[in-house]
Amino acid sequence: MTHSDFDSIVHLNQNALEGVGPLDNESLSLLVKMADQALVADHDGDIAGFVITLPPGAEYDSSRYRWFEDTLVDDYVYLDRIVVSDEHRRAGVASSLYEEVEGDLPIALEVYETNDVSLAFHESRGFEEIGALTDHGKTNLMLVREPEVDESAA
Ligand SMILES: CC(C)(COP(=O)(O)OP(=O)(O)OC[C@H]1O[C@@H](n2cnc3c(N)ncnc32)[C@H](O)[C@@H]1OP(=O)(O)O)[C@@H](O)C(=O)NCCC(=O)NCCS
Repeated sequence: MTHSDFDSIVHLNQNALEGVGPLDNESLSLLVKMADQALVADHDGDIAGFVITLPPGAEYDSSRYRWFEDTLVDDYVYLDRIVVSDEHRRAGVASSLYEEVEGDLPIALEVYETNDVSLAFHESRGFEEIGALTDHGKTNLMLVREPEVDESAA
């Protein structure tokens, strides 16, 4: 993700407020500075989707991030947001982005309890609910995916 992507990413984000919190260029810029991964999926020169992850210990003013900081004991990756544009959904774009961020660490994220599409997506990738947090009148389900164990490494 580069600075020249920011306008498109803010636009994508603001068209997906059923699933993610609002973003403007300034808050995106701050988020990317804190991020350990900020990736875009390119489709013929257009941005089909993006994902942003944060490491533990970031100065991120988010009650959901704090909840994971207070709850998880071992190292993990916080996935702040994933958005795929309307016209590229259900084509494996989010799955490809997740394959890039899923490594040896658990991944933590929250999903609005009303976001059935995201819940179906995350269930399909093996995420499990470990709690719930209500903030600003919205209930978030707190999900974690443990890394897959490589049986051949034993
Ligand atoms: C959730 C989101 C990122 C999924 O992106 P996507 O690129 O369409 O997802 P994929 O194509 O990789 O889907 C993989 C699997 O997830 C599940 N899934 C995805 N969309 C689904 C839907 N609309 N209904 C049911 N299951 C769905 C399916 O199991 C799917 O596999 P399949 O297509 O082989 O059946 C996308 O819908 C989105 O951007 N939503 C708005 C923003 C948002 O809610 N982000 C998540 C915040 S927590």
